[in-house]
Amino acid sequence: QGLIYRAGVLGHRPAVPTDFAELERRAAATMSPTAWAYVAGGAGEGATMRANRAAFERVRIVPRLLPGNAQRDLSTELLGRRLPAPVLLAPVGAAGLVHRDSDLMIGSAAAELGLPYILSNQGCSPMEEVAAAMGSAPRWFQLYWSTDEPLVDSLLARAAASGAEAVVVTLDTTMLGWRPQDLNLGSLPFSQGIGIAQYTSDPRFQEVVRDRIAAKEAATHAGAAAGAPRDDVKVTVGALRSLLSISREHPGDLRANLRSPTPRASVEAFLDIYSNPGLTWEQLATLRERTDLPFLVKGVLHPDDARRAVQAGASGVVVSNHGGRQVDGAVASLDALPAVRAAVGPDLAVILDSGVRTGSDVVKAIALGADAVAIGRPYIYGLALGGRDGVRDVLANIVAELDLTMGLSGVGSVAQIGPGLLETPS
Ligand code: FNR
Repeated sequence: QGLIYRAGVLGHRPAVPTDFAELERRAAATMSPTAWAYVAGGAGEGATMRANRAAFERVRIVPRLLPGNAQRDLSTELLGRRLPAPVLLAPVGAAGLVHRDSDLMIGSAAAELGLPYILSNQGCSPMEEVAAAMGSAPRWFQLYWSTDEPLVDSLLARAAASGAEAVVVTLDTTMLGWRPQDLNLGSLPFSQGIGIAQYTSDPRFQEVVRDRIAAKEAATHAGAAAGAPRDDVKVTVGALRSLLSISREHPGDLRANLRSPTPRASVEAFLDIYSNPGLTWEQLATLRERTDLPFLVKGVLHPDDARRAVQAGASGVVVSNHGGRQVDGAVASLDALPAVRAAVGPDLAVILDSGVRTGSDVVKAIALGADAVAIGRPYIYGLALGGRDGVRDVLANIVAELDLTMGLSGVGSVAQIGPGLLETPS
């Protein structure tokens, strides 16, 4: 990691900016307006996005001198696997807005670094193809709990078969948040068929859609007999048919537009399948019998929810507000972290995301109780600027800065990062 720093000092210009502000500026200038709105945008007024950063800025490290560590050990054990650094790639759906082969590039970059890639359920290449691009490198699968239980099972089985080492169940997005940037442009990636590759490549998805068409048609006949209006049902059946044709003709093709005469209805039909706003903790607990993989619950901000996740059989939690994209006004994830760690005890895996931008942020999150962090938007900006290598370089820079910050703060290993390294709040 010292190499990156030395190269910079010696006048080698890096491929991607080494600070987030410049990375973001350059990415904004490169990305299409719809991609930018979707990736950079947050919920509502952006209060939680700002709170995420403010929390990191409020917490301060008190560096210690001369610990005698010429080398630092950044490696960390997570769910029984040793990682080169306490950093994961957060699941980012619809990254195909930025680059057609987004997930393959991201997977390949993650594999080069040995950092786990949490592939999104809203991914843009079938998970089997991402797995092939990653070889034996660590990867996890992120699940959105569908309204169709057999589809949940199918996705879990595919994840296990394609070498995922854990499942991350995201519970903060049973519905999409209020995202003005997307709403104002009238753009949602799904309406372009982007971010549905895990579904269209799934045999069960085709069955679900067929079943729902049959159910709607049965309702039409029943409704016709009772003299009910048929227009809504026609629209829905048309929309479902277009979903079915995409999944048959273009399995996994992210550019297969939802080309129905009723695109809005197609998106709605898709959203009706992808996630379940009525999901309960009891349903979540069934996961334990449905997969051998360990699972983590993502989106935890309240200590009681962390406890319920453990009761449901979770091996870990991801403390996250989805990068400020779901509940505007939600607490900063870093502020929620200490109570969550206290609730689950020292042994459970706790990952933090939302607003992590620098190596110094990683130190702060670990000091406050996280085992590791996940990074979202920064690596997508790397993808926009430099493709696969851009993803790698953004992450490598964060890891390099983590190494320097640890060394300069008097810490020799990740295990040595604790609350004692932080200023005590006055
Ligand atoms: C996300 N996130 C997300 N989370 C998830 O569980 N499944 C998903 O499909 C997505 N999709 C997604 C798309 C985009 C464009 C973004 C920016 C984020 C949330 C993500 O996993 C993570 O929680 C946040 O990105 C972390 O915050 P930062 O690092 O972006 O501030």
